[in-house]
Amino acid sequence: MLENQKHLFSLKEDIYYLNCAYKAPLLKSAEAAAIADLVKQRNPANLLPTDYFKEAEEVRELFGRLVNSKPSEVAIIPSTSYGFSSVLNNISCKEGQHAITVESEFPSDYFSIERWCKTHQAELKVISPDANSNSIAKTWNQNILDSISEQTAVVIISSVHWMSGLKFDLARIGEKCKTVGAKFIVDGTQSVGAIPIDVKACKIDALICASYKWLFGPYSVALAFIGEAFHQGIPLEETWMNRTNAQNFAQLTEYESEYTPDAGRYNVGQVSNLTLMPMLIASLQQIHEWSVEGIQLYCRELVLPLLQYLKAIKVDLEEETYFSHHLFSLPLPSQIDTTHFTNELKRRNIILSVRDGKLRVSVNIFNTPKDIQQLIRAIEQNRN
Ligand SMILES: Cc1ncc(COP(=O)(O)O)c(C=O)c1O
Repeated sequence: MLENQKHLFSLKEDIYYLNCAYKAPLLKSAEAAAIADLVKQRNPANLLPTDYFKEAEEVRELFGRLVNSKPSEVAIIPSTSYGFSSVLNNISCKEGQHAITVESEFPSDYFSIERWCKTHQAELKVISPDANSNSIAKTWNQNILDSISEQTAVVIISSVHWMSGLKFDLARIGEKCKTVGAKFIVDGTQSVGAIPIDVKACKIDALICASYKWLFGPYSVALAFIGEAFHQGIPLEETWMNRTNAQNFAQLTEYESEYTPDAGRYNVGQVSNLTLMPMLIASLQQIHEWSVEGIQLYCRELVLPLLQYLKAIKVDLEEETYFSHHLFSLPLPSQIDTTHFTNELKRRNIILSVRDGKLRVSVNIFNTPKDIQQLIRAIEQNRN
């Protein structure tokens, strides 16, 4: 099993950061890459036309390998909302068709699909779990599957729920979407980099991920797998960089009508973002070195004492199949007042987010057993 990797970050010893789902800390290697690139930009005399392309190509390859897609099927974009609009603008709607999402989906996803529905005068079906079930996730997945029909044009959901970490059954949902001819769009922001995913096996048409959480990337860069269904689509913008002659700087005004193949047309303008791309390369290389399977396994072992403690004090957790060990919401014993406890956590330098009135715990390879012990101690000392 992987060992703790805190030494590769610049985290403080007395801060217990259980909040990777909010923002990942910066890797020292990514910080060094950004600084080196800034220094390089002091003097652009040596900046070659190829320098505007090669780092973005490397990022596309590294991300593609992470999700099982070709580099050409990866687009580099500034945010998930940009990615959703890029693909949704290329989904048509027949009379009577509808879209599907889940309850309390992240706002970028929700607003994007809401606009698509308004544009096409289509119904938006928002699917909820059965509130009183023993396994919220099981009924939720079943309700999603049951709602997909010949009338479904598009399903847009997160790979795991961003507030609770509950896993959606992407393979079964993707299969059902294919059977009925619906497009399947997945927001991978809260799991890609921490849980293995295979876009082909799950029959995903587009997988969109912000990079600043589980991919350890910089803010303002997101990555997208955009599959065959969209390879002839119309991108949001027309940048010279996405044309097949872009690297030939001397002949750019021989206006080339061909886009670079596959998802290339969806790359954002100025995709070469000279400071952020080297950071992302360093981060993605590091994730490959650790392996996503290794990261999830590390998180599983790390949080085991917390899960065992919660079980011992009779706190119910979601069943293992649907539980993400890197991100989960913490149901507190009824004796604990959430607001009071949140303040208490702050006082103890335990950093995590409150979402929907519950504590969201999110851990990664930089967290140590001490971080978890601190949280257990805080619960135990506030329980009576
Ligand atoms: C599930 C999910 N999607 C997307 C985002 C970020 O959205 P955007 O890239 O549109 O800012 C977040 C941020 O918390 C998220 O949790």
